[in-house]
Amino acid sequence: MKIFAVNGSPNTKKGMTHILMETFLEGAREAGAEVETVFLQKKKIQYCIGCYKCWVTTPGVCVHKDDMPELLEKLRGADYLVIGTPLYVDGMTAQTKTFLDRMIPLSDPHFEFVDGHYRHPRRYGENPPGVVLVSVCGFYERDNFGGLIDHMERMCRNMQSRFVGAVVRPSSYIFTLEEILAEPIKEIKEAARRAGRELIEKGTLSPQVLDDVARDYLPKKAFLGGSNDFWDRCIKAGKFLNL
Ligand SMILES: Cc1cc2nc3c(=O)[nH]c(=O)nc-3n(C[C@H](O)[C@H](O)[C@H](O)COP(=O)(O)O)c2cc1C
Repeated sequence: MKIFAVNGSPNTKKGMTHILMETFLEGAREAGAEVETVFLQKKKIQYCIGCYKCWVTTPGVCVHKDDMPELLEKLRGADYLVIGTPLYVDGMTAQTKTFLDRMIPLSDPHFEFVDGHYRHPRRYGENPPGVVLVSVCGFYERDNFGGLIDHMERMCRNMQSRFVGAVVRPSSYIFTLEEILAEPIKEIKEAARRAGRELIEKGTLSPQVLDDVARDYLPKKAFLGGSNDFWDRCIKAGKFLNL
């Protein structure tokens, strides 16, 4: 099984997205997957300018000369696309969205009517990869991911991909509190690793494993004091974590 993983966090390897995603992918590797990860921040990917040249002038080929064709090739050879993004303004990062917009050459402009919806057929014959979302956010509640998950589900329906599930972790900065929260961090990471294994062994992500990754590790009330204290320490230090 081949996984093509794109990490859309501007903080690349220093981000919480990387911690969650890498742990998930470790599990997938343990189960035999071949994984390739790309940090979108490090790639040259220009905005889609909506010219439709990739549909009508040079079918399948975008006007931009950048890193995207190489990424589309990797995507086309994958069984799964793992999209890693932190939650930014209740959605995905600009890096992630720009990458997804630039997937449009893979669609054919004509319409077809499937399951009560019009959509574009895929340009090429191969099966589209199944999609997994891996995301982190700063707020406490898991429901903050609702809009992003809905977006992914709709995108997959339109791209004729299977949306396998969302591995999400609210209160992402728990990962920086190893000294005081070693045990819950270990459990969350073990759940993320298990999720990666499940993906490869069963082709699904169980509700239980997703709950275990997202689970509360401290009472809701304690989040307030703990988080404000965290930010006060950052302000005092004049820097955010190791960034
Ligand atoms: C511009 C910006 C917007 C954000 N928007 C949200 C948000 O809507 N909800 C939320 O819970 N966290 C939000 N966050 C917090 C990030 O999701 C959180 O810091 C996450 O850990 C960032 O991922 P990274 O560690 O990989 O950089 C935002 C952060 C930034 C910088």
